[in-house]
Amino acid sequence: MSINILAIESSCDETSAAVIKDGKIYSNFIANQTVHEQYGGVVPELASRAHQENIVPVVDQALKKAGITQNDLTAVAFTQSPGLIGSLLVGSCFAKAMALALDLPLIAVQHMDAHVMANFIDDPQPTFPFLCLTVSGGHTQIVLCKGHLHMEIIGKTLDDAAGEAFDKTAKLLGLPYPGGPLIDKYAQQGNPHRFTFSEPQIPGLDFSFSGLKTGILYFLQDNLKKDPRFIENNLHDICASVQERIISILMNKFIKAARETGATQVGIAGGVSANSGLRKAMLAAGEREGWQVFIPKFEYCTDNAAMIAMTAHYKYLAGEFVGLDVVPSPR
Ligand code: KG4
Ligand code: ZN
Repeated sequence: MSINILAIESSCDETSAAVIKDGKIYSNFIANQTVHEQYGGVVPELASRAHQENIVPVVDQALKKAGITQNDLTAVAFTQSPGLIGSLLVGSCFAKAMALALDLPLIAVQHMDAHVMANFIDDPQPTFPFLCLTVSGGHTQIVLCKGHLHMEIIGKTLDDAAGEAFDKTAKLLGLPYPGGPLIDKYAQQGNPHRFTFSEPQIPGLDFSFSGLKTGILYFLQDNLKKDPRFIENNLHDICASVQERIISILMNKFIKAARETGATQVGIAGGVSANSGLRKAMLAAGEREGWQVFIPKFEYCTDNAAMIAMTAHYKYLAGEFVGLDVVPSPR
């Protein structure tokens, strides 16, 4: 009998459901919530309500696309942490209700581990040890992955995440939320060496992005005093220069981590791994350092249930189940 798992992701502002059969993804539906754009960031209360509206149709489509019904399922998985608690509650309650009604085992997945596991969805897959740079809206981590369920965080941000650095810069530039993809777009037509922003001097493998944010704020204030149209006249170069600095902060630490651990199987994960500049920088570093570089498909970089399903598959094989008394956790 095959292992058919339904996985649900609802940690932030994407409602997603995926079906994995015997370790292969058969469907991955994602409902993006556009309601937050007008507020310049995710509004937790609105996110929970939108999850509540989206979850039934999204699960329905995921099952249909995979060609199965709920009666063919072997287990149900969901994102337990971290995330917005009201958002996590919708996915976890739904998964628990399904597990109870269908008498199925329940699997709880940690969202950041699942981002790393996005690298194991398509072939070729990394071998272990695998070193992953996980960069999302809330986290920035260097993860040493010694097995599918064995992850060790060896570097992390001390303040803002890389995605926040992109989003907060975009806000200062008057761009809508989430600004990361827009900075990426404008950066492609800009000169990355036109403006320089200083690199923080943090020991070890940890990161810091809050100084960069302040640096950009002062840089813009100074230049706007001289030229009120400074941003619109230089948007592409500003975006390219900021992106260049964020990428160099990430890559310098990641190269250090790879040299220290001796890892040659490396990859990226999380929303910011959709960034075209970071993808290029990772491939270029791979050529120089002799790495085999893994980069997930775009749909598996930002939040999605396929990565939850992939993690759940290995948890199923390891017999890692949770009871119906499980509760989600924001951290
Ligand atoms: O992993 P994700 O979808 O959600 C979290 O778990 O946080 O990451 C979202 C983050 C946002 O900060 C967004 O601006 C950023 O990923 N992002 C990008 C790009 N696409 C998404 N940042 C830079 N360039 C992109 N192309
Ligand atoms: Zn995420």
